[in-house]
Amino acid sequence: MMGMAKYASEFPVENLVYAQGVNSTIAKGRITSIDTSEAKKQKGVLEVITHENALKLKAFDKKMPSSTLTTIAPVLQSTEVLHYGQFVACVVAETFEQAQHACRLVKVTYEEDKPEIHLDKHRRKAYKPDEAADFSRGNMDAGMRDADVKVEETYTTPIEHQHPMELHAAIVSWKNDKVKMYANQQILREATIAVADTFMIPRENVQIIAPYIGGGFGSKLRVNKHIILGAMASKMLGRPVKITVTRQQMFTNTGMRQFDEQVMKIGAKKDGALTALAHHTTSHCAMDVQYYEACGNVSKMLYNTPNNAISHRLIPLNLPCPDSMRAPGEATGSFALECAMDEMAWKLKMDPIDFRIKNDTQTDLGAGKPFSSRLLTECLRIGADKFGWENRPKEPGAKKEGNWLIGYGVSAASRNAPYKKTSSKVILELRNSILYATIRMDATDLGTGSYTIVAQTASEYLGIPVAQVTVELGDSTFPVTPGSGGSWGAASYCNAAKVACENAIISLKNKKNIPEGQQIEVAELLKQNRLTRFEAEGTAEPSEEFKKHSVFSFGANFAEVWVDQDTGVYRIKRMVNVGSAGKIVNPKTAYGQIIGGLTMGAGMVIAEQSKIEPNFGNFITRSLADYHVPVNLDMANVEVIFLPEEDKIANDMGIKGIGELGITSVAASIANAIFNATGKRMRDLPITPEKLVEAKKEQA
Ligand code: MOS
Repeated sequence: MMGMAKYASEFPVENLVYAQGVNSTIAKGRITSIDTSEAKKQKGVLEVITHENALKLKAFDKKMPSSTLTTIAPVLQSTEVLHYGQFVACVVAETFEQAQHACRLVKVTYEEDKPEIHLDKHRRKAYKPDEAADFSRGNMDAGMRDADVKVEETYTTPIEHQHPMELHAAIVSWKNDKVKMYANQQILREATIAVADTFMIPRENVQIIAPYIGGGFGSKLRVNKHIILGAMASKMLGRPVKITVTRQQMFTNTGMRQFDEQVMKIGAKKDGALTALAHHTTSHCAMDVQYYEACGNVSKMLYNTPNNAISHRLIPLNLPCPDSMRAPGEATGSFALECAMDEMAWKLKMDPIDFRIKNDTQTDLGAGKPFSSRLLTECLRIGADKFGWENRPKEPGAKKEGNWLIGYGVSAASRNAPYKKTSSKVILELRNSILYATIRMDATDLGTGSYTIVAQTASEYLGIPVAQVTVELGDSTFPVTPGSGGSWGAASYCNAAKVACENAIISLKNKKNIPEGQQIEVAELLKQNRLTRFEAEGTAEPSEEFKKHSVFSFGANFAEVWVDQDTGVYRIKRMVNVGSAGKIVNPKTAYGQIIGGLTMGAGMVIAEQSKIEPNFGNFITRSLADYHVPVNLDMANVEVIFLPEEDKIANDMGIKGIGELGITSVAASIANAIFNATGKRMRDLPITPEKLVEAKKEQA
């Protein structure tokens, strides 16, 4: 707020040197030689690390490892190149500019193979990544035979990159086998494990500090290889090392959303009752590590269908390993599902809202558990009212303004609302008879407002103004939290802060034999105990009730789109988002989360895609000048509504996640609006004007 937040690369550390990674210029093959002599001659250059002199790191087991929060990140361990842009060397110099310059002088010679970069050419290699990749209930074939109306379509979404404004960076100090780093990791405890395991040192020897993170969107979940390069350089040189990943490198070295091809099959009776729903996804992956976003999960739980089948397959290619990007699975999966649902409603001649409500369910049929709360129908109805759904053109082309065709679209949103074991410490202090509190935990704030909501929670449960609460986050030596990811942060952090405050109060009361129910100010409690300082810890975790339920946030998206009937240029005129996400701790930060999600959802449709050069496998979108994201004018008219809700099964405070709900199904609402305007079904994102002009209208 005051420009005082300090980010990973901004910490003043003495005696600092700068490391910079060198990227491969082939996608597949072997390094035959590396000539570092020219680079080493340059002023200020201290070292060039290659596979020849790199420290030995832990290697992957034979079995293909999965990319998780604790997966090791070995780098510079062999001559093998598996994707374009892979780190093949690391230059360390006295200044950033010297390191950058010398990187260009490292001469790498390769024996080059033809890279495998086209999904279509390697379908034979598709494999099932794990047991959870497939799911089925009932009998899908029988369900389709039973259907009066069928939709069978394929939807494709491109590779996207997360691109938080803050570049990936780390300042690492390796001293006596203790590693301390400032690094923008979303989840600190797991990141310390990944670093320690990679270097085969004790886990308690690694400390990560990240008080502020300038966005992550999933790209800062796992430990990426630049972190390991920085740590290796620091150990080898005996000096603190700063390493930054350039915007260009963020296309090849810090994760991405994978390419997904989703085949949807839906069967329904004439009255709109679903008889069958299948969702089969094929995605690309890396050669050495596997990762898949579970696009089909949304089709397991969102609608009431007796027959259901889900699968996920991966095709390994010579591309960097994909990773989580905001609502991994749901953002893309709900595009396919909610477009296919719209197609079915159109075929049934049913209103798409009525069709969804007809198939609503209070039970998660995939998990076989009741939802803790599900206000999807309410989100759809209230949204329809706010949006003016009754003015929707009944068929494409029916509503026009000059050359603009006007369409309305709707989609249903759902996102798992996880809640995880979380610890926190509270320190109470009396100064001049005024109570001050400090809350400490290893949580992170990605710009999402973690500090704010934790301070609010302590204020509420200690009965003091927010101004008397200090929140300290972002240090892996603080009490352990699940960190920021997967939309579990708010619920987990707040409940842990609450328990710590309650524990402090109970302990202070117990010491004086004050009954737990008795109202007494916390400052007074300290006085009665003759204390000016008191500390307590607390741990919150999911209840038995939580485990017996399926806990999700729900929402509905509405979009009005104007399409120029000649050029295919289109504008999102307005959007309405209604969410039911439990207790909204802070409307301002929650609003920011949803707006951000809506913007990324709109980005999926109007612009975002990372393109690969078809012969050599390099990304040809390499900056924010060619990787386009929405701008303010695209999002000029957005309304966000939260339904009042406190889900006490979700957790004591009734909070559910919203960080990922906001992006979910937004793309479908826009694509459905485009159909409503033009009669064209656009099943391949992004929807560019060229594609729209060329597309044929659906047969009525
Ligand atoms: Mo999220 S994609 O778990 O940061």
